[in-house]
Order: sequence, then structure tokens, then C-alpha cells
Amino acid sequence: MDAPKETGLRKVTSVASIPEMDDFDLTKLLDKPRLTIKRERSFDERSLSEMSISRGLDNLELGYSPGGRSGLDTPASSTRNSFEPHPMVAEAWESLRRSLVHFRGQPVGTIAAYDHASEEVLNYDQVFVRDFVPSALAFLMNGEPDIVKNFLLKTLQLQGWEKRVDKFRLGEGAMPASFKVLHDPERKTDTIVADFGESAIGRVAPVDSGFWWIILLRAYTKSTGDLTLAETPDCQKGMRLILTLCLSEGFDTFPTLLCADGCSMIDRRMGIYGYPIEIQALFFMALRCSLAMMKLDTEGKEFVERIMKRLHALSFHMRSYFWLDFQQLNDIYRYKTEEYSHTAVNKFNVIPDSIPDWVFDFMPTRGGYFVGNVSPARMDFRWFALGNCVAILSSLATPEQASAIMDLFEERWEELVGEMPIKICYPAIESHEWRIITGCDPKNTRWSYHNGGTWPVLLWLLTAACIKTGRPQIARRAIELAESRLLKDGWPEYYDGKLGRYIGKQARKYQTWSIAGYLVAKMMLEDPSHLGMISLEDDRQLRPIIKRSSSF
Ligand code: GLC
Repeated sequence: MDAPKETGLRKVTSVASIPEMDDFDLTKLLDKPRLTIKRERSFDERSLSEMSISRGLDNLELGYSPGGRSGLDTPASSTRNSFEPHPMVAEAWESLRRSLVHFRGQPVGTIAAYDHASEEVLNYDQVFVRDFVPSALAFLMNGEPDIVKNFLLKTLQLQGWEKRVDKFRLGEGAMPASFKVLHDPERKTDTIVADFGESAIGRVAPVDSGFWWIILLRAYTKSTGDLTLAETPDCQKGMRLILTLCLSEGFDTFPTLLCADGCSMIDRRMGIYGYPIEIQALFFMALRCSLAMMKLDTEGKEFVERIMKRLHALSFHMRSYFWLDFQQLNDIYRYKTEEYSHTAVNKFNVIPDSIPDWVFDFMPTRGGYFVGNVSPARMDFRWFALGNCVAILSSLATPEQASAIMDLFEERWEELVGEMPIKICYPAIESHEWRIITGCDPKNTRWSYHNGGTWPVLLWLLTAACIKTGRPQIARRAIELAESRLLKDGWPEYYDGKLGRYIGKQARKYQTWSIAGYLVAKMMLEDPSHLGMISLEDDRQLRPIIKRSSSF
């Protein structure tokens, strides 16, 4: 776990390239081809409209793509101005490097938390796939792609393992939630143990891991310009295996993905079973990333067709039925129930009495969001930050919806951000509801942990969403809040309380993704062209035909 000392800071000058420009419109900046990048081959989103099955990966559109910075010959930050980086940046890099995990001498990931003060290590000494994403982005943005490549290859190998819970075998494509490297100093050997859900609390397999893996493969490819990794038969097969798990036909009547509770970042019972927004948004993004990377050989072509069909259905479903704003809420409030046949307006038979009181007060006239879950007679009206930010980044949200989500952040700043960015979901569930929904989970009491707790890692997603929607001032405000406490508090995993003011009851310190999330947010704000790694442009082919409500 020794971290090379000299790396990192040299290339990173933080703060400052967008200093006092509160009204500065980054989207305009992104539209302009500022960088001249020499690339061997370009790598960009395959638009559905441009897709023709006969084309190969090599023939993808050449030239500059807005925000699609390549790491090829663009030094990380050397052209930036000479402002001093925030002192926290250097500390953050040092802590991030301390969390590196090596396998046979090669860095392959970062541990979840480096908290020696904590008595219980639990599984925080493991490399979690989802936790590694912000670390990976930080390394890519800093021109250090090797660790990301090693991680992608190592987890791909783990995918090949046989996975069982008791006597039951999991799907071939499942990716681990986490893995651990065991060093044997005597024999001088390293071995890996992985967890696909069979050791996890509650025994739930992570649905998000495979999606993050695909998204990271694209980020790596986009950032380095190196198409060879994604093109290897192993990576192509890995992608196909992940997608096979999600694209198989069954009894589904919706294009969304049916999930067990606890299958994502929220990895314990929190009432997100069904069709949680976090998974649907990641699913959409992973499908679009795969579309860009899938080789058009015989097997690939078949997948591309299935992906395209699913994307159409999924975007229609999400944009129509998950979207909530003032107008839509009012419509649901007036819904008739028990409608039968194709003419039904209230397709899922949502009973207006099931709308919780809080949402009427919470909903501003300006703004909107994707609700937590939609299934028969059940709409979970809660706000979930990760799903909404990923919806913006993947362009699952139309540009109008994306800006309505940012409006919501502004209108409901106290509730969604408060004193520390940002709440994982809103509002918290309490009392009887908490008992029933969480199964009396003492870790998920109101305004703590997954139940309305505040997770600094989400800062990078918020920042990326802000840049994409041309609202960097919102990100800057959030980053300032984080800077006032994060380092001083020892980079906690989460904060508690309505305003996120208290360090979480059982929060680890030196939580790696809190550290990496901050670095990624800083680097993106400093150089918005980094956004291209984790953002996909709006695809006209996926635009909705219907116009339903005021903020569309
Ligand atoms: C907790 C979080 C999960 C995270 C893990 C490691 O279990 O709920 O999202 O991956 O800790 O940090």
C-alpha cells in the first residue's frame, strides 16, 4: 500500500481558473473548441441517429468533441493560471495515495477508508467498485490512467469467477461489490478475495457495479484516447455479460430494471426495492456508454440493436413517468383511479391519497426531479441525489429537465445541501414508517447515513451536473461549504442531521471517496473539459415526443 510520494501535486493547480465569474456560462465555453488535441483516433458517443450497423468503431466521427478532453497530449493543469491551489488539495492527494492497494506490485484500486482510529474495520479495508469511481476519475484527470486500467482488468477477471450464495449460482456477468488483496509476507504472495453479495450484509448483489465498470471503461477510453483496451475480446465479452443480465426478456412490462433493496450505494434496506432511480439512471448511462464501445462484429451487432431498442423505451418511460414537477404533481393529485384499458391516464393506478404531505410543501413552482421509484400503485416521491445527477450526466434528463433539477437545488438548497454537500435523499423517514421500511435499522435512523444523511462524495456528481448545465456557481458554493469542514473533520464518510451539520454517528474518517470526490470536483471546476469523461451529450433521437408539464 505504499504510495509513491512525488506524484500528483505537480500537475494539479487547483482553485482558480474560473475565479470571480459567478455568471460565467460554462456551456458556452464548452461549445468552443479550445484545445487542439492530436489524436490517433477519436472516441465519441455514437448517436442513435448516426448509428448504422455496418460501421465499425474506427469510423466514429472524428474531431473535437465538446468537453471530450483527451489525456493524450494535454498536460493536466499546466496551462492554468498561477493561483495557489487550496491547501486541502495537497492533503487530499496525499490521503488518496495512502489508500492505494497493490496487487503483485501494481496499484489496482483504493481502499474504502483508511481509518485506523476506528475499532471496527468491517469491510472498509476493501476496494469497492463504486467507491473507486471518483478515485479513478481523479487519477485520469491527473494523467495517471494506469491504475484505472489495472482496476478494470482485475475486476474483469473477478467477473469470471463462479459466484454462489449458499447453493444458488449468480448470473455470469455479475461484478463484485468489492475485493480485498491478501498479502502473505512469508510466502511473498498476493491473493484476492471478492464479494459479489455473498458476504455482504443482507446478501444482496450490487447491481450498480457492472454499470460503473462500463462507465469507467468509457471514461478511461475517452480520457486516454486508447481504444485498444475497450476493443479487447475480454472487455467486449465483459460488457456483453453485464448487459445480458439486464437485457434478457422475461415477465417485465416496463423497460426499467427490477431490483432488490440494498443493491446500490444504498446497500441496506431503505425501501428502494422495485425500480430505484439510482439504478435506472446508471443503467441508461451504461447502455449509452456500451453503445459507443461495442464492436460491430456478429455478437456486438446483435447487442447494439437490443441496446438501442431498450434506450428508446427506457428514456420514454423515465422522462414520462418518473418526472415530477409542480404541474405533474398537480395532475397526479387530481388523478382518477381504477382506470382500465389503453386510454388510462393514471397508468400505474397511483392513488392520490398516497402522495405524502411533505411533497406538496417541498415542490417549488420552479424546478423538478426524477422521483425515487415508480411501480404499480406505488410512487416513491423521495428525492435521490445520485440518480438525478447521473440522469443529467447521461442526458437521460432532457436539457429542460436537467435545468429544472438544478433549479430545484437552488430553490431547496437548505433541504438538499444545507451546511454540507449533499443529502443522499430527502426527506428522512421516521417513526412507524422507519420501522416498517428499514426493518428498524439503527444505522439508518432519521437524517443519518442512507436515511437523509449527507455524503460528501456526491460533491463530484453535483459539480459535474452543474458544469454540464452551465451553473458552475452552484458547484462553487457547495465546494466552499465542503472546504470549510471536510479536512478539519478528517474526511468523514457521511454527516448527520437535517442540515448535515454533525459528523455521522458511525461515519469512518479518511473515507477515500469523500477525498477523491472533492479532488474530482475541484479539477472539473478548474478545467471543465474534464467533464467529457463522465458526460454524454443529449441525443436528439431520444428526445420525448410528448410535452407534459411546465418545466419540460
Ligand atoms: C457503505 C456504503 C456503500 C459503500 C461502502 C464502502 O456500505 O453504503 O455505498 O460502497 O460503505 O464505502
